[in-house]
Amino acid sequence: MVRVLQNKTILLGVTGSIAAYKAAGLASQLTQAGAAVDVVMTRAATQFIGPLTFEALTRRHVVTDVMALLPDSQIWHVAMAKRADIFVIAPATAHTIAKLAHGLADDAVSATALDASRRAPLVIAPAMETGMWEHAATQENIAKLVARGAVIVPPGEGHLASGASGTGRLANADDLIDTIRAVLGRGGDLARRVIVVTAGGTQEPIDPVRVLANHSSGKMGWALAQAARDRGARVILIAGTTSLRVPRGVELMAASSAREMREAVLRAIVDADALVMAAAVADFRPAQTAEQKIKKGNTETLTLELVKNPDILADVARHSSRPAVVIGFAAETQELLVNARAKLESKNLDLIVANPVPSAFGSDIDRATLIERGGAATELPPLTKEDLSEKILDFIAARLKT
Ligand code: CTP
Repeated sequence: MVRVLQNKTILLGVTGSIAAYKAAGLASQLTQAGAAVDVVMTRAATQFIGPLTFEALTRRHVVTDVMALLPDSQIWHVAMAKRADIFVIAPATAHTIAKLAHGLADDAVSATALDASRRAPLVIAPAMETGMWEHAATQENIAKLVARGAVIVPPGEGHLASGASGTGRLANADDLIDTIRAVLGRGGDLARRVIVVTAGGTQEPIDPVRVLANHSSGKMGWALAQAARDRGARVILIAGTTSLRVPRGVELMAASSAREMREAVLRAIVDADALVMAAAVADFRPAQTAEQKIKKGNTETLTLELVKNPDILADVARHSSRPAVVIGFAAETQELLVNARAKLESKNLDLIVANPVPSAFGSDIDRATLIERGGAATELPPLTKEDLSEKILDFIAARLKT
């Protein structure tokens, strides 16, 4: 479950593009994440995918007829427009975009949009052939809609229905869901706050082909960044090594080594309200990085001399731009609470998230204890990284309020 989607009604408009079948996946993912999804389709869309598919996935009535009435004679599409928290049109054809730009309302999607957009923000995900997308008429219509406040999720590049390759593919479902979450989260309890999150592991080069690395997946920092964005914050995500997709709606700074991450953090905290150091930073690096690949030769052992890396949190603690709230993580194999408390003190943190190591790396469920400066420790039940992120952000929001 994603907190910002719970108890929200998402109106999903589906129009007549070959990508209409992908809207089924989107409707399913949004439903599973906790949202109620009302689907409204154009007649052309129903030629690509049946309303029954959406009804089965969302367990809600699908409207395809602008004239359709509810049993009490209310107009269906008007009722849907009224209860929507957001209106997402995915895929949106060039024709529908033109209708929206000009206020036409001759099918269920455009009529609903005309009514819904007064209350609910409009997100449009175009899908069409490259020529149609790049045409001045489409671009002018898009500009008009943007000027009116619509959020456009631009089409991607790749294989198109015509067999050609180019710009025009419907944005992928993860990017669409990120955008929906960010738009719904505007005005949340972290609005106008700047939160810096570090994530993933660092890599320390040994030679041009080898590194010292660790097992951090980056999932915790990613979940934190997305959850903070969903609560309205401006998020700067400083990412070490990870294979995760860059979330939309957050600003990414890449940092490979501990020293690069330190530079990035010290730059990013200047205007920040909070820093959450979820990254697994290498404590040591090779004293020297060989310029050429180290050959194994005839020796049976190789000794690497390591030197200490800067402690980023300790440097932040001494920095004139230390954010109001600074949070660290402690992943420990033994003496979890004793070690975590010692780090809380030595790094001058406001909160430390103590994780026993078997649960700390790569897993989707965390066992964590939150320890606040001043002593209060809260052992949390096993939580998903999404839910743990919300607890950490609750702490930040409460601290920033005081
Ligand atoms: N950290 C940091 N800079 C480092 C190492 C760690 O800012 N050079 C941060 C981590 O991002 C984390 C916290 O400090 O939020 C604790 O990291 P951890 O690796 O558990 O502790 P260390 O200080 O490295 O201590 P030790 O290795 O002795 O456990």
